[in-house]
Amino acid sequence: MKKTLLASLALAALAGVAWAADDDKAIQALVDQYIATGYQQGEKQQLERLKQDETLKACSEHRNKPPADLMKAIMEREKATIKYPADNKMMGNWEKGKEVFNTGFGMRVGVIAPDKADKPRGGNCYACHAADPKEVAAGNLGNSLTGYGKMRGNSEETIKYTYEKIFNSQTYMACSNMPRFGHNGVLTPEQVADLVAFLVDPASPVNK
Ligand code: HEC
Repeated sequence: MKKTLLASLALAALAGVAWAADDDKAIQALVDQYIATGYQQGEKQQLERLKQDETLKACSEHRNKPPADLMKAIMEREKATIKYPADNKMMGNWEKGKEVFNTGFGMRVGVIAPDKADKPRGGNCYACHAADPKEVAAGNLGNSLTGYGKMRGNSEETIKYTYEKIFNSQTYMACSNMPRFGHNGVLTPEQVADLVAFLVDPASPVNK
């Protein structure tokens, strides 16, 4: 008798887990549906970005806290996608980088106006980070990057880390809130190298 009771309790507990997982799936499906239909549909709409790849799906499923083995797998997979500049020069020109850091043009979801091929896209980095101390309109979702090069120097190691972090932030933090700028084709490897210079070059206003 006792055994049966224990067995049915165990079964009920298992079923409870199964129901919870089903609920989660149903809620996720509903969220996906709302997101997919929440934008105006039709020709010229750029809605491709709403589709999650394997990495984003895993992060959503685990509320950005995947178990350690999955976290490691995500970071390895993301790192393997990094492309480097043609001459492998990961530090470009800080003045150009300043422009890219500041500009918010390009890659919207939905269409305001189609991206112009001759107008380079920007990183809109100030939306989340402080950098040049003279720029007061800066967000704080990301850490302040003011004095970045002053604090970390400009060793090859720092340059490589900074390049890889900007190209694909999920290489270093499996479920980072920072967009994967190079990976998603928002910025070119050369633009990423210019951003590295803006952060690391002692002559950049970030380090003044
Ligand atoms: C949507 C917000 C967001 C945007 C936009 C964003 N970042 Fe980030 N960034 C973060 C967050 C959050 C972190 C800290 C967590 C992490 O390391 O992923 C971070 C971390 C970083 C780091 C690592 C800092 C460190 O202390 O090691 C660098 C470098 C960086 N961002 C550069 C940039 C650049 C350059 C841009 C623009 C091309 C940018 N970020 C745009 C949110 C953002």
